[in-house]
Amino acid sequence: MLKNDQLDQWDRENFFHPSTHLAQHARGESPTRIVTGGSGVHIEDRDGNRLLDAFAGLYCVNVGYGRTEIADAIAEQAKELAYYHAYVGHGTEASIRLAKMILDRAPETMSKVYFGLGGSDANETNVKLIWYYNNILGRPEKKKIISRWRGYHGSGLMTGSLTGLELFHKKFDLPLAQVLHTEAPYYYRRPDLAMSEADFTAHCAAELEALIEREGADTIAAFIGEPVLGTGGIVPPPAGYWQAIQRVLKKHDILLVADEVVTGFGRLGSMFGSLHYDIEPDLITIAKGLTSAYAPLSGSIVGKKMWDVLERGTDENGPIGHGWTYSAHPIGAAAGIANLELVDKLGLVKNATETGGYLLDAMRDALGNHAHVGEVRGEGMLCAIEFVEDRDARRFFDASRKIGPQMAAALLERGVIGRAMPQGDILGFAPPLCLTREEADIVVDATVKAAKAVFGD
Ligand SMILES: Cc1ncc(COP(=O)(O)O)c(C=O)c1O
Repeated sequence: MLKNDQLDQWDRENFFHPSTHLAQHARGESPTRIVTGGSGVHIEDRDGNRLLDAFAGLYCVNVGYGRTEIADAIAEQAKELAYYHAYVGHGTEASIRLAKMILDRAPETMSKVYFGLGGSDANETNVKLIWYYNNILGRPEKKKIISRWRGYHGSGLMTGSLTGLELFHKKFDLPLAQVLHTEAPYYYRRPDLAMSEADFTAHCAAELEALIEREGADTIAAFIGEPVLGTGGIVPPPAGYWQAIQRVLKKHDILLVADEVVTGFGRLGSMFGSLHYDIEPDLITIAKGLTSAYAPLSGSIVGKKMWDVLERGTDENGPIGHGWTYSAHPIGAAAGIANLELVDKLGLVKNATETGGYLLDAMRDALGNHAHVGEVRGEGMLCAIEFVEDRDARRFFDASRKIGPQMAAALLERGVIGRAMPQGDILGFAPPLCLTREEADIVVDATVKAAKAVFGD
């Protein structure tokens, strides 16, 4: 493709980038990276840089870049039938086949898939279904949703409210009143250092129960959580967490939404995080790894218990008043089918366990004892390093020092993309699930060198 020397300028003049410092970008103080190609775990930019993308875009390009099997499936679908809607019982072969493939892989108690476009809109769907469900059951007061501080569930009005990160609320008049937040399952940041992991799990469950009792269980409809906290810091739950939380939810008749936008389709080394941690959700949110981001597609997988009530609702009230023009878009569905076939064919779920485990061990060996590393943690093909000023006292750096962004920048200079997670000095890795051991070694080596550059030792 021709190189257009005006792209930088056109970008600053016309393009509103998400999650970007708008003023700095418009003034030209932050770089525009124009990405032109990708293959395997690497991307290339217009300036000729080839970078190892150890965050798989936004932890979504699970099968890696440049997979012609998916590109061909998209092209064939576009030629045959680029679009038809899914309203009033319409479908395409691709959308019907993909729904079956998803349910074949999901926990047995799940029943149907509603397709959307991204994780945020799938969670908006979930909240509407939860409210509808309780109205049909004659419980109009049971509507509030509990999420966790540091949870990430999207950036819409409702989903931005569910997200428990300050940046997503500040100046947006969020969270909305129907949303409540409870303790993040983040053992490293436990309120009392003397707590054991079991104590902390009990503390999280007790905090949840206290919140439910304060508000009244008859006002709480659902709890939403990611099996492993993602954007909030890449934090696997403390031992026994999901069992303790589910006990509380069952006791108070509260629905459970497992937000598997990151963890679905293999990232933890299991097909779903719910299977990995014995979670029995009523709804599962999927997106990212469903198509490996080759086309936008998300889904709400609805469990049998809710589905029966939804059917009853339409017998009583007529067709469900929910749908998008692009629900179950055939091009996204074709991408999803080809992607899930590739995940199986390449054994990527197993590789997430094996190479992900190798990456985590190697990162721990290399940096676990570093004076400014508080914790190296991960699960499957997820890994994070939390930097601290004083590891013995667990004293965090002042946020103004921007240690996390400095580490990500130093890593980038060494050809590797990691992500400075938004709250805390946490460097995150979520490579494509096809990462090899040799590539994992490159990531670790570059991280060690970046730490030397930032901390000087
Ligand atoms: C767990 C989780 N849920 C929901 C979302 C929102 O998805 P999207 O950005 O596609 O709207 C994300 C995005 O990162 C996510 O990580």
